[in-house]
Amino acid sequence: MAKIADLYYKADPFQIIEEGFDPNYAKISESIFSLGNEYMGVRGYFEEGFSLDSLVGSYFNGIYEREEVSSQNYKGIIDNTEFMVNSVDYFYTKVLLDGETLDLATAKIHKFRRCLDLKTGVLRRSFIWELNNGKQVEILFERFLSMSDANMAGQRIRFMPLNFDGSICVSLGLDFTRPHYMSGKNYFSCDEKRAENDNLFIVGTTKNTKQKIASMCKIELPNSPIGVIEKEDNKITLTYQIDLKKQCEAVITKVICNIVCKKSEETNYKKFNVKCEDKWRERTNFHYDQLLAESIEWWEKKWKESDIVIEGDDLNQQGIRYCIFQMHQTYHGTEAGTNIGAKGLTGEAYSGNAFWDTETYCLPFYLFNNLKAAKNLLMFRYETLEEAKLRAKELDCRGAFYPIATISGKECCSLWQHASLQLQASTGVAYGIYTYVKLTKDMEFLHQYGIPMLIEISRMLATRGDYNADGTKYGFYGVMGPDEFQMMVNHNCYTNALGKMTLRYTYDVIEQLKKEGFSEEEIARRYQVSHEEIEDFKKKADNMWIPYHTDTKLFEQHQGYFELPHVDVDAIPIEDFPLYHHWTYDRIYRNDMIKQPDVLMMMLLFNSSFTLEQLQANYEFYEPRCIHESSLSPSVHSILASQLKKHKEAYQFFGFATRMDLDNYNRNTGEGLHTTSIAAAWMNIVYGFGGMRSDGPILSFTPSIPESWNSYSFRIRYQGSVIKVEVTKNETAFQVLEGNDVPVKIYETEYTLGQSRLKVELP
Ligand code: BGC
Repeated sequence: MAKIADLYYKADPFQIIEEGFDPNYAKISESIFSLGNEYMGVRGYFEEGFSLDSLVGSYFNGIYEREEVSSQNYKGIIDNTEFMVNSVDYFYTKVLLDGETLDLATAKIHKFRRCLDLKTGVLRRSFIWELNNGKQVEILFERFLSMSDANMAGQRIRFMPLNFDGSICVSLGLDFTRPHYMSGKNYFSCDEKRAENDNLFIVGTTKNTKQKIASMCKIELPNSPIGVIEKEDNKITLTYQIDLKKQCEAVITKVICNIVCKKSEETNYKKFNVKCEDKWRERTNFHYDQLLAESIEWWEKKWKESDIVIEGDDLNQQGIRYCIFQMHQTYHGTEAGTNIGAKGLTGEAYSGNAFWDTETYCLPFYLFNNLKAAKNLLMFRYETLEEAKLRAKELDCRGAFYPIATISGKECCSLWQHASLQLQASTGVAYGIYTYVKLTKDMEFLHQYGIPMLIEISRMLATRGDYNADGTKYGFYGVMGPDEFQMMVNHNCYTNALGKMTLRYTYDVIEQLKKEGFSEEEIARRYQVSHEEIEDFKKKADNMWIPYHTDTKLFEQHQGYFELPHVDVDAIPIEDFPLYHHWTYDRIYRNDMIKQPDVLMMMLLFNSSFTLEQLQANYEFYEPRCIHESSLSPSVHSILASQLKKHKEAYQFFGFATRMDLDNYNRNTGEGLHTTSIAAAWMNIVYGFGGMRSDGPILSFTPSIPESWNSYSFRIRYQGSVIKVEVTKNETAFQVLEGNDVPVKIYETEYTLGQSRLKVELP
């Protein structure tokens, strides 16, 4: 894999540290130092302004804009797209001293240090600013987003004049003038702005979707100077003249409260107004230190529950903690109705859209850490079922076709070969329901929400697929599987396998209902599905063709894949990557090169259904053909390599997982973090080195340890119990820390895990 690590940040087990400032790295650091609390996300930009390229990004989960795309009226190709929109800069600051404006692009600075403390979620930046006249002032910026009260955020600025007495001019505000970086346009209008003493309030409304964001703040300053209010169209600020005394600190705090209204309906607007007024009245109770303490407490609890400790590998220790931190920041399931964008809340690439990544890559983290979040992710799909049904109609199918990229449930991908040909979002939802129900036995969810989704997805699969000419094989024609380098293929193995599982599972849960005493009439009435249709699902599942060659034990990625011209991927010059920018689409499509695991992805999802020999044969065949152009790719290979005891290879692939963004491996971290790859990093340790599998009849582990590590440990929440797994060079120990005993298989032996530590030697 042609990927190089930047190694720009200092290694530390619990902090991300930047020492010394390189302006060329500013945009990457803006992504790296992003903060989020599921409700909102803010990039680590310099709040005082920065005159070089910068993405001053502030996003709210579920706040998006809609724009036309030119579809030329082709059926099934979208004519409108939605994207998470850049919004209010609530950290807006300007600093002016002796006629010089603070701007790190031009200012003379010393001792620059920026540090994101993963333990507490606090971001701090400090430096000494030296003016042209020789005056020096030490400045510290601190910010956090509250994890315990999602509306709240805090900003603190500390000035310490080192060699002078004087006065500094500071403006603080709420600023909706920032353009959306990708389009250069501003999508907000602000008709409400007010200021009262040291408090500001502004409401921005998106131009097309008519969603609202209210931002208010309370400012506290030393010696209470009177601020000068300035109101512009989309901005409100207070400007203060603050006296500075040599070697004495002057501290400004700003507590921010943001409230969103996602639905543009009168009743929602009313509720929003009431909430805004209540908060505005309560603003005297906004206390920075108290909010911060509560938020730190939230983090303490999370770290206790979900930390992964690695001894003997500082870089990966930092990397995996960064990933866990970002997962919690992006999503923890407080609110139903939102999803996880491919870049989380950290940038505008992928337009804030959620993909099949959610169910196949992110869900496992939540299934074993936070079931409420796992359920809420699936509830998003239930809440958007009606949209998926409309989409199926547009694509000449019945049932529900889940969008390949979405924010509100509508398809947002304007590339028809992805949007019309990829079934993996729909089958991913079915797979997500299957894994969630298998782990939780949450029958209420299955009956009320799961079955309606399964029926509609199966209905789509039963109409999107076809029998071959002689009627013996069912499968999907004209599709694009996970490997996006093959388009319009027939019988993609992954798609057929997932389709088979979905149709069969739908049939099985309906059969189960019958066993529980539901009559066919009740089922038909409740779920609007006939006995004949359910039987048809079963027949199609039974006849689903999985292209498999018994002699070689190879699954063929799609019908005809083995006849494609071969490309030696190792011979592709490094300058050709990323390939989408250097090769035409058709050139990419007409050979056997693979973008990301396809057959191997199937073998991970249904791992316990395959023999080791099958896995070995397919890994040996497909791995050398894969160029890992997607950040989703290396971890899957790493997990399977571990299973095949290719420990060195597993570790090499793993290297990209935890530090994909910290080391800017894909050269595009500046656009936002690779949230799905971050989720995959967790899987990489737990499923890869820990060898955990939950798709078989019993939870199982086959731990191994990378050569350079002394030990590692992780925790999972499983059926109400918390299990701790520790792996050292020679042995592995399992313990139930909370809850009931758990039956597990470790290597080939079954045990019942309890409160006392069970030690098993590493083979
Ligand atoms: C991958 C897709 C993925 C998307 C968003 C693409 O590069 O090929 O599988 O869903 O990125 O992460």
